[in-house]
Amino acid sequence: MTNYFLIGFMGAGKSTIAAELVKRTGKKLVEMDAQIVEEQGMSINDIFAQFGEQKFRDIESDLVKRIANEGNTIVSCGGGVVVRSENTETMKASGKIIFLTATPETIYNRVKDGNDRPILNGHMNVEYIAELMEKRRALYEAAADIRIETDGKDVGEICDEILEKCL
Ligand code: S3P
Repeated sequence: MTNYFLIGFMGAGKSTIAAELVKRTGKKLVEMDAQIVEEQGMSINDIFAQFGEQKFRDIESDLVKRIANEGNTIVSCGGGVVVRSENTETMKASGKIIFLTATPETIYNRVKDGNDRPILNGHMNVEYIAELMEKRRALYEAAADIRIETDGKDVGEICDEILEKCL
């Protein structure tokens, strides 16, 4: 019944790790951003541009609640899911929360070529990433049941560690 929520900063590897965990466990996959794009019929950039961040957060919170009612799901969360404490509470009540960490430099290298993250568009540099990560750190740490460092590890190693620690 338990859900497994992967949280962490943009570019921490949540989507990649979720897909591999699904392959290994046969659980269902929810990729939150992709589901939001599909349900709204709009890109994340367009949702932010047309309706603003708070509306995106409302949509995100609604999705978290719906996922919590399902079980047996591996969830790749949006990087900002922890900014609303109600989301953290909902996730905690319906499963385990796995926090993937990476240094700002690693994150930068993973996200620098993308333009589909409105929070980073126009601020694509290590300093901004480090600053925002610092602002969110306590929220990620408080939400996490387990914490996995991803720097220098490949997908297989990261999944081994998660499976060993909690699945
Ligand atoms: C966000 C992270 C994004 C996406 C949106 C906002 C954030 O998800 O939900 O652009 O505030 O950190 P990823 O972490 O999957 O990039």
